[in-house]
Amino acid sequence: MSIRHFLELSDLPAATLAAVLDRAGQFKRGAVHADVLRGRTLVLLFEYPSTRTRLAFEVAARRLGGSAIFLDCSSTQMQRGELLEDTARVLSSMTDIIALRTSEHDRVVRFAEASSVPVINALSQTRHPCQLLADIHTFSEHRGAVRGQLVAWVGDGNNVCNSYINAARCFDFRLNIACPPQRRPDARLVELAGQRVRLCTHPEEAVSGAALVATDVWASMGGSVDASTEQALRAYQVTAELMRKAAPDALFMHCLPAHRGEEVTAAVLEGPWSVVWDEAENRLHTQQALLECLLTQAG
Ligand code: CP
Ligand code: NVA
Repeated sequence: MSIRHFLELSDLPAATLAAVLDRAGQFKRGAVHADVLRGRTLVLLFEYPSTRTRLAFEVAARRLGGSAIFLDCSSTQMQRGELLEDTARVLSSMTDIIALRTSEHDRVVRFAEASSVPVINALSQTRHPCQLLADIHTFSEHRGAVRGQLVAWVGDGNNVCNSYINAARCFDFRLNIACPPQRRPDARLVELAGQRVRLCTHPEEAVSGAALVATDVWASMGGSVDASTEQALRAYQVTAELMRKAAPDALFMHCLPAHRGEEVTAAVLEGPWSVVWDEAENRLHTQQALLECLLTQAG
């Protein structure tokens, strides 16, 4: 039996993703209890800061009867040059499942190849699959199935945007993306998504008729924005005026942390469209369900 990793959404079949989200709902309602982590340990190895992802995994591990250990990479021997693969071998020899937050996506892939236990991508510079579990679950809670719906991404074509493209394939929805030409998402992913994904020039074009509008920060961790890119991104700010051009009952999501007045206005983040706090809470329930899935099902 092979180890089941979660490095991107498509690592799990669509039916398994649906089952994970269904289970997340059961955990949230308190309808079920599971102790699949009893006597077992989750280790979180993070190269970048985190509030939601870390807390969600730590609480989820406890709710599943196990324990979680957080390792800041800068306080490990990785800081002094220990190979990523050697770290993976050692960590996986002492623990049962590992969540890694790192820079280049290739590092998560290499880490998983050297690990003897399941590895979860807790964010890389080009993917954030755990975030999409929460976003899709949040949409379903508020509006029912996302299948066949129109979703709009407005802003930087970053890791979360790339994972939205993967989600469009895995959950079968349409995705319009409006971003500056110099900040487009992964072209290969766009191509793979085919008709489901459309790159738009203007934010208004992308959000027209959309049931969900999502955005994210201008500068992701490990990245930066120069003055001209910042100027370009300013035209993609999600404002109340833009939200009024989406479907009448459109939702707004943001993975957080948000920068009010940059990628989104305070009026939208705190407004009637916004479900960002449910979205953040759902990181816990979906990650609890993900841990259970990876610990109980082989690949
Ligand atoms: N959205 C998200 O991943 O948040 P953190 O960086 O706080 O984990
Ligand atoms: N795109 C952001 C997401 C943070 C949760 C980043 O990578 O910094």
